[in-house]
Amino acid sequence: MLSFDTDQDLTQNYKFLIGAVLPRPIAVVSTKNENGTDNLAPFSFFNVFSAKPMIVGFAPIRKPNSGEKKDTLINIEREKEFVINFVTEENADLINLCSTEIPHGDSEFTFAGLDPIPSETIKAARLKQSPIHFECKLKDIVSYGDWPGAGALITGEVTKVHIDEKIYDNGRIITDAWKPLGRGAGNDWFKTDSIIEKTRLTKAQIQK
Ligand SMILES: Cc1cc2nc3c(=O)[nH]c(=O)nc-3n(C[C@H](O)[C@H](O)[C@H](O)COP(=O)(O)O)c2cc1C
Repeated sequence: MLSFDTDQDLTQNYKFLIGAVLPRPIAVVSTKNENGTDNLAPFSFFNVFSAKPMIVGFAPIRKPNSGEKKDTLINIEREKEFVINFVTEENADLINLCSTEIPHGDSEFTFAGLDPIPSETIKAARLKQSPIHFECKLKDIVSYGDWPGAGALITGEVTKVHIDEKIYDNGRIITDAWKPLGRGAGNDWFKTDSIIEKTRLTKAQIQK
């Protein structure tokens, strides 16, 4: 097998992470800019950590050239809240546009032609074109450095969930109707239209 040490090259580490850890879920995070406009950016270093309290987390990394913080992190440090919206086959191209580095304080909603709608428990806006919204209050920020490529793990408690009734039936989200996408390496994205099912053994089944 080939091996490498991880203290050498940011690009090598980054490429390995995004090639090995996939498909990744995508959080489309909306925050309030200091000037009152609405910021929106996708993050695939994203997952869930607790059901009750309901805790989710994602990680913006420092910009690879300058080591600067991304706007989402700056906004959450100041406002202590954010919304997680989700990617569907329908909104994916516009969400992808929101990953463009536009001037600080400009809104990616306006840039991509997406619509902000008010949240109920926080000031950050929800994305109208997303069928699921998590309104989140900041729990922790764990910073792993202030140099290019260093991440900051942001966790939040979901205070309110919204779901489009078109993709919800009897307490279950219908994946086929939702059509979520995942993230791969480079510019790859995953569709979720090829699902396999595996039942798990119960405790009773393994008892002799
Ligand atoms: C699907 C997708 C997933 C991304 N995931 C991440 C990520 O996990 N961490 C990160 O720092 N940047 C990620 N990016 C890049 C950010 O979206 C991009 O840097 C964006 O401009 C940050 O916006 P902001 O400065 O408004 O926070 C991703 C881009 C795309 C298209």
